[in-house]
Amino acid sequence: MAPTSPRKILVTSALPYANAPLHLGHMLEQVQTDIWVRFQKSRGHDCLYVCADDAHGTAIMLAAEKQGITPEQHIERIRADHERDSAAFLIDFANFHSTHSPENRYWAEEIYRRLKANGHIASRAIIQAYDPEKQLFLADRFIKGSCPRCKTPDQYGDNCEACGATYTPADLIDPVSAISGATPIEKESIHFFFRLPEFESMLRQWLDSDTLQPQVANKLREWTDGGLQEWDISRDAPYFGFEIPGEPGKYFYVWLDAPIGYIASFQNYCERTGHPFEPYWLPGGDTELYHFIGKDIINFHGLFWPAMLHSAGLRTPTAIFVHGFLTVNGTKMSKSRGTFINARTYLEHLDAEYLRYYFAAKLSGSVDDIDLNLEDFVQRVNSDVVGKIVNIASRCAGFLARGFDNTMADECAEPALLADFIARGEAIAELYEQREFNKAMREVVALADRANQYIDEKKPWLLAKQEGAAGEVHAVCSMGVDLFRVLMTYLKPVLPAMAAKAESFLACSLDWTGLQQPLQGHRLGTFEPLLTRVDPKQVEAMVEASKAAAPAGSAPKTQEPDLAATIAFEDFAKVDLRIAEIVAAELVEGADKLLRLTLNLGDSQKQVFAGIRSAYEPAELVGKLTVMVANLAPRKMRFGVSEGMVLAAGPGGKELFLLEPHAGARPGMQVK
Ligand code: MSP
Ligand code: ZN
Repeated sequence: MAPTSPRKILVTSALPYANAPLHLGHMLEQVQTDIWVRFQKSRGHDCLYVCADDAHGTAIMLAAEKQGITPEQHIERIRADHERDSAAFLIDFANFHSTHSPENRYWAEEIYRRLKANGHIASRAIIQAYDPEKQLFLADRFIKGSCPRCKTPDQYGDNCEACGATYTPADLIDPVSAISGATPIEKESIHFFFRLPEFESMLRQWLDSDTLQPQVANKLREWTDGGLQEWDISRDAPYFGFEIPGEPGKYFYVWLDAPIGYIASFQNYCERTGHPFEPYWLPGGDTELYHFIGKDIINFHGLFWPAMLHSAGLRTPTAIFVHGFLTVNGTKMSKSRGTFINARTYLEHLDAEYLRYYFAAKLSGSVDDIDLNLEDFVQRVNSDVVGKIVNIASRCAGFLARGFDNTMADECAEPALLADFIARGEAIAELYEQREFNKAMREVVALADRANQYIDEKKPWLLAKQEGAAGEVHAVCSMGVDLFRVLMTYLKPVLPAMAAKAESFLACSLDWTGLQQPLQGHRLGTFEPLLTRVDPKQVEAMVEASKAAAPAGSAPKTQEPDLAATIAFEDFAKVDLRIAEIVAAELVEGADKLLRLTLNLGDSQKQVFAGIRSAYEPAELVGKLTVMVANLAPRKMRFGVSEGMVLAAGPGGKELFLLEPHAGARPGMQVK
């Protein structure tokens, strides 16, 4: 049950860099955050989602210079684009601000002063690469040369794209400045450091406190166990950022003031609206603070940020929710394949809610990467949302409008069925709370199957032709609409625009708090089409447009796996082998070696195409067990998407053996 007093929750997602448009990787994060926030609101909580652009740093300064505009003009343009794209994806920010703002300057200076007063700031001279032509210190990314290991030319100063080696710019062969082409010299200057090692015991406690996902805490323990280093928080002029108080020519490093942007954006919101500010940032209150971020920035959020907050006398986050990276069709987003897709390009071809649903159907509470398989995307959205959910309403609405004055029956035809649908709400809510959106979507789709089954059994379209059955048509269709109401309540965090249309059709609001009220004797609004099918042609057009549109210099953050002839034990350990029961087997038209298998894994079903047609008739297979690679990335085949691989043994031909049913082997069991 929802607690009686609303929770006070502040939520953020990472601040996108103001140097390029948003792409679908950013949207994965914002959609995940937004679903969680909308869910909390639907449960009656006071939940606010703030974000901002991350506007500082050398890259942004240089990008503006290249276009012949000021950094301020550049970040304003990008901000307008970011806000427009997030809004089109129905991201419900309470506030979207910028780190280049007076609030952020205030808090960056204030927090720095507190750290300094506590003795947590050190300063000393360091030697760095310097571009003598451009008169600029060079970060590793701005130095290029040949890889010291494999000798590939034109590699960046931190790692080699060809062989994966990591090194420092000093190791590069024939280094040059990526900005001017000049040979860098070494130059000394004073830098300021945050004394992270002082926080070792505080951070160990924080890592052990169950605030973080286990994989994230483990990763961060590598830092605490390896010995924490002081963190360099200053950069020399010229730099686009905030000058450090009392230190002319020295600027805060972009990552110092970026997370402070969360505070600044929230303060800006509070000043605009009169909402209380302090209780959210002072320790010991009853408010909650959550940061949604990608797995590439966990050290900033999981180590530096809590230590800074602690020293500054501010509260630390309630939790940090880390997600994995988006891949498209099984590999990293690629410009040449047209799978580096900008948010804007997507929106020019497809409805935002298709992707919101697909992301929800794939997202979980883990840090695993998420694959957008474009074929699966079309099938999943069309089959689940259009074919199952929307279908319930469209099958019933017409009868009610034509025959019954668009009014629901006075009594519920199947109170037990309705009660069951409503009772599932607590389990579904718990899945949302834990960010197990994929499991929540599976529950909802399973309920939709039951609703459709109910309508199929009752056949209102036949009843409508029978004399004296009008009362039953009314009862059945009203029942269908009420089940639809419950399902749309569960889906509203994911599909807010579709839910708004459903709300005007149902003439009621679809919040979790109103779940218990059935629509009896209730006058409905006009039914309008809720969502149309995804047209695969539009997906193709989007891919073509992405090939043409991908901007240079904004490669997505993903790594392609190394290819190797043998696999390491760690690789083998990644293979998730499970017992699966074959629940259906069908011939595949146009493929005489293949069978389409539907496999039951205990808590889910998967479709796999298997080349075992030579050994088995489809009917013989139903009820047999097989060992399945359950975590194989889905693969698009000519006939559909294959979501795994089944293992069979034998010489081939007619002799390929699967497992016989056995009392000790249950679907879903792990094979060790
Ligand atoms: N500006 C910093 C964050 C500062 S937060 C105080 C930054 N910006 S970013 O634009 O590079 O990334 C913003 C968010 O998008 C990060 O959480 C990042 O992990 C996420 N993603 C960027 N590319 C992504 C994918 N391909 N997939 C999923 N999320 C990814 O980092
Ligand atoms: Zn190399």
